[in-house]
Amino acid sequence: MHSRSSALVGAAPSHAIDPDDIGYNTTDNPSLETLVAARLSRRSWLRGGLGTAGAALLGSVGLSACGGGGDGDPAAPVAPAQLGFNAVAKSRADALVLPAGYTASVLYRLGDPIAAGVPDYRNDGTDAAATYDRRAGDHHDGMSFFGLSDSGAWNAAATARGLLAMNHEAITPAFLHPAGQTVSGSGNAARRTVADEVLREFYLHGVSVLEVARTGSGNGRWSYARDSRFNRRVHTLTPMLLSGPAAGSAALVTKYATDGRRTRGTVNNCANGTTPWGTYLTCEENWAGYFRRIAATDNPRRSAKELTAFARYGVAGTGRELWATVSPDTSDGLYGRWNAEATGASAAADYRNGPNTYGWVVEIDPFNPDSTPRKRTALGRMGHEGACLGPVVAGQPLVWYMGDDSRNEYAYKFVSTQPWNPADAAGGLAAGDKYLDSGRLYVAKFNADGTGAWLELRLGVNGITSSSGVYPFADAADVLIHARLAADAADATKMDRPEWTAVNPKNGDMYLTLTNTNAASRPIDRTDAANPRFYNDPKGTSQTAQLGNPNGHVVRLADTGRDPAATTFRWDIYLFGARATASADVNLSNLTADNDFSSPDGMWFSQATPGLLWLQTDDGAYTDVTNCMMLAALPGQVGDGGARTVTNVSGGTTRTQSTVVGAAPGTSLRRFLVGPRECEITGIAESGDGRALFVNIQHPGEDTAPDFANPASFGSHWPDGGSARPRSATIVITKDDGGKIGV
Ligand code: FEO
Ligand code: CA
Ligand code: CA
Repeated sequence: MHSRSSALVGAAPSHAIDPDDIGYNTTDNPSLETLVAARLSRRSWLRGGLGTAGAALLGSVGLSACGGGGDGDPAAPVAPAQLGFNAVAKSRADALVLPAGYTASVLYRLGDPIAAGVPDYRNDGTDAAATYDRRAGDHHDGMSFFGLSDSGAWNAAATARGLLAMNHEAITPAFLHPAGQTVSGSGNAARRTVADEVLREFYLHGVSVLEVARTGSGNGRWSYARDSRFNRRVHTLTPMLLSGPAAGSAALVTKYATDGRRTRGTVNNCANGTTPWGTYLTCEENWAGYFRRIAATDNPRRSAKELTAFARYGVAGTGRELWATVSPDTSDGLYGRWNAEATGASAAADYRNGPNTYGWVVEIDPFNPDSTPRKRTALGRMGHEGACLGPVVAGQPLVWYMGDDSRNEYAYKFVSTQPWNPADAAGGLAAGDKYLDSGRLYVAKFNADGTGAWLELRLGVNGITSSSGVYPFADAADVLIHARLAADAADATKMDRPEWTAVNPKNGDMYLTLTNTNAASRPIDRTDAANPRFYNDPKGTSQTAQLGNPNGHVVRLADTGRDPAATTFRWDIYLFGARATASADVNLSNLTADNDFSSPDGMWFSQATPGLLWLQTDDGAYTDVTNCMMLAALPGQVGDGGARTVTNVSGGTTRTQSTVVGAAPGTSLRRFLVGPRECEITGIAESGDGRALFVNIQHPGEDTAPDFANPASFGSHWPDGGSARPRSATIVITKDDGGKIGV
């Protein structure tokens, strides 16, 4: 989500702050400006020997990258030579814009019922709070399609019926209640006074699983089954297991689970991932902001280690939705569990460790609505954006690539201990126990010469010791619970806000969106080869976001030998966001009116059309010209460009920065969709045949303070039109001739 203005009754000051905009990494790590910039040449860059041999190797085994649900016929697809549509123009209309020959329909909106007997959503803030556990959540985000067989099992080849699992990251509180959140008092004394409003919000976060089906052929109409037995909401009250090496740690003990092996709920579910056994991974991103912890009160009660961790993860403040303030609390701590202060005699008597039970990758089995989701602690605790599955090869470990979204955070990968056995493809959560509870966690270090290293986060290596000056690590659980601090100790490379990861099924290249950063987080003398730009964007709508790298970029890497378990890699920058009118040192990818964009975030490779990349934006810098958008691309591979020196200018300061830039995209990058006003485009999935594309439109109209006496003033009325309140929603895009989308 990008910044939104508070439109609330009473005071909820945290709403004015975009949690994504806050960085908590104050370490000095890799400022590559301290390294001698390596002299790059195209010849040395290509010496790693990737390219056709590696691609052929991977092509021969068939890949199943993070699309999940995947392709029904991995042997058949041939990479397209070019995109099959004309680019759409930038737009500020309150409408979806699509290329000629495509149609979008609205599938699943905020509040839509997913169980028999639940009334249609009135969308005026009066729907009964107790029904929201059977309604669509708010702020639709990462999403996966799982083909459904006639017998109700996972079948990646099923194309016309499936389960759609999707995240509901956050809420636009202004539109959920009759006239915004009811709050009394201000500052630390601000209180939520209507418990039903808070209950709605508890349910509106989390995950949806719903059954969808197509009637007719390729361009037939998609709808969801309102009464399917598979339909499920997972939300902030859903019981969950803490699984893997950190489970049972003293740092996970709460009044709710004194054994440290369970917790309640998931929150701020951002991007997603999949597994080779048909389960869904939902990733907890800006969870820290939901907790109340008034530092002046609580700090004197906490250890030095705890205070270091709170500062690094940003656990301080009133809690963005003030959930902990409802009084009286229930006997099971429905509200009080959002208070992370040490109020009791021990951790077993309060929720001081509540924040440690969030920040994980959570596995959900969409085919078993009664199953208990599992928080996979082996993948580390951070602001998880997403977890993209790498190439799946029998006999080789499984790999997931992950971004930690805040300014100056890192890129990670997890490599399973167990080699993949295709016999586990129907293993459900038991397979998750096997592959996701044991493995190696790495963080990325990008060298100036276009090489890089995956640094293992394990006690005793890479500076992660009990005597570390960053944080005295006690054991394996301490390292995973404080993965950010371990990455600091390992000297990883600070990035310009890592968002989604994606893996190209054609060659295994891993792409990472770096959505943007600002001058405070990366001043002109702190650029590095992997985060090379600093400039003044001329017409940004937010003054504070103009200076630095407000339009973001996309870095990509190839693990050495095309082995995803390798601990070294080569990288380049695939793409830079920019206005087409910007100077050559800013518009480094030579973007044109057909493909200029800002702040890449969502990103996903089609599985049905190998090589086809979808890129989505969450922008606040180019919004003077266009709403957020989705582009299609046919990228090349790591190393298809060469060395480049960027001249950065700020005021009277000029500095040069060496980097490695991929081949300019040209017409292989085109704008495919522009969304309605004040939305973010995020979350994408496809039917197994690639003939239906599911896309999430998040938080239309969130920036304009609503005047409820004058509904026409709302910043957006999408998708219902008229004077309706805006709603986050899933759309389905089909091609009018029934063909594959985008090609
Ligand atoms: Fe939830 Fe980083 O976007
Ligand atoms: Ca995102
Ligand atoms: Ca974002």
